[in-house]
Amino acid sequence: MPRPEMTSFQNVFKADPQVQTSAPGRVNMLGEHTDYNDGFVLPTAIPQQTTVALGPSPDDQHHIYSQELDQQVSLGPTDPIPEGFASYVVGCFKVLEHQGIPVPPLAVHITSSVPMGSGLSSSAALEVAMLRGLRSHLQLLDIDDVRIAQLGQRAEQAYAGVQCGIMDQMASSLADAEHLLFLDTRTLERQLLPLPTGAEIVVMDSGIPRTLAGSGYNQRRAECEEAASELGVKALRDVEDLGAIAQLAEPLQNRARHVITENGRVLQARQGGSAEQFGELMNASHASLRDDYEVSVEGLDKLVAILQETSGVFGARLTGAGFGGACVALVEAGKGKDIAQNALDRYNQAGYQGKILVP
Ligand code: GLA
Repeated sequence: MPRPEMTSFQNVFKADPQVQTSAPGRVNMLGEHTDYNDGFVLPTAIPQQTTVALGPSPDDQHHIYSQELDQQVSLGPTDPIPEGFASYVVGCFKVLEHQGIPVPPLAVHITSSVPMGSGLSSSAALEVAMLRGLRSHLQLLDIDDVRIAQLGQRAEQAYAGVQCGIMDQMASSLADAEHLLFLDTRTLERQLLPLPTGAEIVVMDSGIPRTLAGSGYNQRRAECEEAASELGVKALRDVEDLGAIAQLAEPLQNRARHVITENGRVLQARQGGSAEQFGELMNASHASLRDDYEVSVEGLDKLVAILQETSGVFGARLTGAGFGGACVALVEAGKGKDIAQNALDRYNQAGYQGKILVP
């Protein structure tokens, strides 16, 4: 382990930072692959955060350092967008510049406890922390938290190549770890809701890398757009009646069924209800993601099945885009640590390499 004082902003850049800002990762409890269909989502913030410290660059280049990766990227104003973690940071600079806001050369130091590549929105946490830092450093007082999320989404779409919805950046910008954030992704109407009484959240990494996440994600999105256009609606959000999708060929019919039923599950959860009822919605969401949306993989199904069989678990599902990454479970309050450890032991005995992420 590097000593913290050896990797701080001061040590990397030999100066004090002018601004330091943070933003959390998120776990989505219900409402998966609905946001780019103008639908409903229900994420919450996780305790893990990304922190950005920044100050003026000593020269005419940006210098961007990631403590976790121990990598520094330096680039001038006309250099191409770098690959990897720095693409999100430079993407944030570029979206501001497109708004006519010049970004002077900066020294940026990033540290993060949000797991990378698990589907817990480490990229959104980085974008939101970075944009908060830029808002403060450049005194962009008219940029509110919703705008931060929208700018972060644009940075991800335009410069990291994923045609993502607005959920992750909204969650990182507006959610907290004590509530569920209900969000209507079309109107951006939102509401903080309590967790079901007597319950807490467990998040586990399946250890399966999300290799297809980019291409598979963009393909699902295109299928949904095609389904909406065949049905003559703006987005699948506008279809509530499952009878209406009978005319669609496969796989569009299955994709549409997932989106419609998943929107229904979020709206049902929003009404409130017991932890048992919420858990059943999560189990149904997993089945729908596995069978209709086809974004699960064997490891995720295995881990979800183990969690669902464990006493004290109300419900479990894959979370995030799928194709690997994390699972989330709603469990009896106070039992999260034990439940997660038992599930992990069983999962890893089956030959996988999972990890407990929350609690
Ligand atoms: C990724 C995207 C989100 C959302 C989820 C799936 O996390 O960034 O916008 O579409 O997948 O629900």
